[in-house]
Amino acid sequence: MPAIKSSACGKFILVGEHAVVYGQPAIALPLSNRRITLHIEPQILAPSGKIKVFFPALGLDGEPVDKLPSNHPIYRAVWEVINYLSLSQSPSCDLRFNSQLPIGTGLGSSASMAVATIRGLLEFLGHPLSDAAINKLAFECEKYVHSNPSGVDNTVITYEEPVFYQKGQELVSLKPAADLHFVLADSGIQKSTGETVSGLAERYQTDSALIKPIIESIGQLANSARRAIETGDLAEIAEAINQNQRLLAELELSCPELDHLVNVALESGALAAKLTGGGKGGHILALVKANRVETVLQGLITKGALNPFHTVIRGVI
Ligand code: MEV
Repeated sequence: MPAIKSSACGKFILVGEHAVVYGQPAIALPLSNRRITLHIEPQILAPSGKIKVFFPALGLDGEPVDKLPSNHPIYRAVWEVINYLSLSQSPSCDLRFNSQLPIGTGLGSSASMAVATIRGLLEFLGHPLSDAAINKLAFECEKYVHSNPSGVDNTVITYEEPVFYQKGQELVSLKPAADLHFVLADSGIQKSTGETVSGLAERYQTDSALIKPIIESIGQLANSARRAIETGDLAEIAEAINQNQRLLAELELSCPELDHLVNVALESGALAAKLTGGGKGGHILALVKANRVETVLQGLITKGALNPFHTVIRGVI
């Protein structure tokens, strides 16, 4: 078995996080310039069944994979592949990860780890699979990692293209009519997506009269953002983003630190800004005209955002 390399991108949700868990559509975009890469090296001399994990950003330095928590995305991904191929024992190899993708901050790190591991290990074992099959396995991993995932994260990361995603519906690959520039910035607060999803589920149970209409309004915003992306209507995309932030705040998924970054981005010249992902921490996204990118980055740096960066979703001509 030769050494192999695989990688998976991060993601950010433009419109529709949380509502997507309740069957509404969402728009998710790939973060191709923030990736998790994996080198798999065979260890022919090691006893069989020994997979060691090296992941500096997680403090893993040769940990046996079976010592990781059973809901860890890498543990799950390895197990999904072994089960899928009905292997009686796992191969002996080192999994060496490197991440430019911030971990646990709403940018899809768990799904990215799962996709990179599944894709890499399948290839290492001589059984490369289609994206559809990889996506299925990654969704199984997500079910262990988060409570009740919608499947949007593993889908956008597996296919690495802009998607309009709705549970149970055929996936729509989005073709933006124009380049879309974004600045993303970290609030510095780590919050588990599983916790925010289950927190909202409890509120939905006790107060569906309040929560359900908000979720439906977010779904409508995803529909209008889809049309606007396909026609290149920046003002309409911006409106959907800003309205989505207002509704997420009504669902109590924002927090003072995210509100602060959203305001700083808007005051620095962004067209729109909102939290992205599970909320109550993690990242914001700001939609920005190409000639305002530097100003918005500087504004965010000056006002305390952690590691703001620029990413572009290219228009399809
Ligand atoms: C997390 O990136 C997006 C959420 O909608 C959860 C999910 O869809 O599984 C918050």
